[in-house]
Amino acid sequence: MAFATRHFVRAASSDAATAAAKKLLIKHVTIIGGGLMGAGIAQVAAASGHTVVLVDQSDEILKKSTKGIEESLKRVTKKKFADKPEAGAEFIKKTLKNLTTSTDAASVVHSTDLVIEAIVENMEVKNELFKTLDKFAPEHTIFASNTSSLQITAMANATTRQDRFGGLHFFNPVPMMKLVEVIKTPMTSQKTFESLMDFSKAVGKSPVSCKDTPGFIVNRLLVPYMMEAVRLFERGDASKEDIDVAMKLGAGYPMGPFELLDYVGLDTSKYIIDGWHSLEPNNPLFAPSPLLNKLVKEKKLGKKTGEGFYKYK
Ligand code: NAI
Repeated sequence: MAFATRHFVRAASSDAATAAAKKLLIKHVTIIGGGLMGAGIAQVAAASGHTVVLVDQSDEILKKSTKGIEESLKRVTKKKFADKPEAGAEFIKKTLKNLTTSTDAASVVHSTDLVIEAIVENMEVKNELFKTLDKFAPEHTIFASNTSSLQITAMANATTRQDRFGGLHFFNPVPMMKLVEVIKTPMTSQKTFESLMDFSKAVGKSPVSCKDTPGFIVNRLLVPYMMEAVRLFERGDASKEDIDVAMKLGAGYPMGPFELLDYVGLDTSKYIIDGWHSLEPNNPLFAPSPLLNKLVKEKKLGKKTGEGFYKYK
């Protein structure tokens, strides 16, 4: 028995060693989309020693992204190196040295280990991008999407590298939020999955894994919860103010569902729920809300437009 156990342990550890040896060590990363999410991902990847190229459609946008990254780095450094300003300045210098920008994705992916897509939430545009990059990226390169609501499998199918394709769902604001959801499609290889898990840890995050299912873990629970709060309010069962207070004081949530909807953006929430409703029209959790639709139609999209469920100055 002791021999069998020892033998098993040895076999298991040698299997793990073989799998680890096969994993791709990601050093060079190309991030497409220098908006809110892409800039954040570029920052944490560069800060953790990866060579990063950030790609967007114009130099003007990229200038704005880089400026945002510099400002964010200053904030992080102030906290992290409170007593050592020189070490902080060195950290910023090193991080920015790891980061370059480009407006031509096809010309920069030739030497990259990982492409992370963080462009507009539109399947056709994403597929077009992946299809093009598939022709220019080397064989070993892994492709990942940061999508919140679209199917990773459908994007993988736009390429010839379905086994080297997965989801890397970061959270906003990226430098602060510790979670990454690593999404495995039925075609994602174990090697790709493990490489993405390792990369997520290397950029200082705590990865969790999920299959390619609508909303993955967080949004699959969060979006129906917010929609249920809207329905509670729509039926006149409770006021939105009381629902927010109840969830903050009774469930310990930092924000109530209406405050969160206004923060996320009502258009974004509507886009997600409409997409899922079209996939599963009979699922009551994904049913559209007349009130949400009305507010979006009136361009009351939340904090960003000055009014959503609440008014903002
Ligand atoms: P954003 O609108 O801030 O940034 C998108 C950027 O992509 C823009 O700078 C745009 O110029 C650029 N872009 C568009 N098409 C491009 C193309 N073909 N080539 C190169 N650049 C292109 O959007 P955001 O919020 O950063 O979202 C990006 C992705 O991340 C979306 O898929 C979204 O679902 C996902 N996401 C968003 C979160 C959020 O809280 N905003 C959270 C998690 C994921």
